[in-house]
Amino acid sequence: SSTYEHILTETPKPGVGLITLNRPKALNALSSPLFTELNDALSKYDNDKDIGAIVITGSEKAFAAGADIKEMAPLTFAAAYSNNFIAPWSHLATSIRKPVIAAVSGYALGGGCELALMCDIIYCTSKATFGQPEIKLGTIPGAGGSQRLTRAIGKSRAMELILTGKNFSGKEAGEWGMAAKVVDGGKEELLEEAVKTAETIAGYSHVPVVAAKEVVNKSQELSLREGVEYERRMFHGLFGSKDQKIGMTAFAEKKKPEWSNE
Ligand code: CAA
Repeated sequence: SSTYEHILTETPKPGVGLITLNRPKALNALSSPLFTELNDALSKYDNDKDIGAIVITGSEKAFAAGADIKEMAPLTFAAAYSNNFIAPWSHLATSIRKPVIAAVSGYALGGGCELALMCDIIYCTSKATFGQPEIKLGTIPGAGGSQRLTRAIGKSRAMELILTGKNFSGKEAGEWGMAAKVVDGGKEELLEEAVKTAETIAGYSHVPVVAAKEVVNKSQELSLREGVEYERRMFHGLFGSKDQKIGMTAFAEKKKPEWSNE
């Protein structure tokens, strides 16, 4: 289905959009052309009423080895600043409303780790290699790593990793609560788990799914009181949806709900 050069898109199960980063010669380094395609594919799935959840994966060896160092090496401050370099990467975190699962096998370094952290759920293999090695290149994380990694695993661990540039394993990502599931096998087993979860999510009404993602994300921005009030307003709003009636009526009648997505 895809006419892309750096990514592949497919629908492995009904309701599931799968995006595979596919720049094997550069270990899926996240060049600007790759990100343009990724954002386009994400928007298409987000706007597709037949898609309920999205999975992003890479190869067995690399989810993504970071921003493209060869593209960045000659960049000047003026060019980075005036073109707001890397800002388009935020599209995933700020504009995509359906759930996105990262399925990480192999290297997820620098921007690759940050891309995983922008996703709503991370699944990885136990042998996956995460890290924010930017300090070794004379710079710092530039796609949200200092903020999202710190929220995901706490300040002391994030500070140590970002200041030393040391890698950490998928096993550790699971133990620290950054990854929701750690798979002992390879990419095939990992992808099976990620697609299964995406299929489960896609099987629910899209209306509360999008609302649930929105309210969980609000917890990262708002005070507890504001967040709880925001959640309650959203909860009230869902009484105006058809699928709340369909879901609760089906429960009472001991039937399987047939979602309308309305
Ligand atoms: N950018 C551009 N090219 C990259 C790349 C990257 N981030 N990572 C790997 N490649 C290229 C290599 O240059 C190499 O290309 P050539 O065959 O043309 O030489 C090819 O991919 C294969 O890589 P290696 O030969 O290095 O493979 P390896 O198995 O020996 O090592 C690795 C794998 C440890 C991941 C190593 O490639 C590596 O350290 N990559 C860089 C990791 C990194 O520093 N990432 C952070 C980037 S900065 C960033 O992301 C900024 C930000 O916050 C947004």
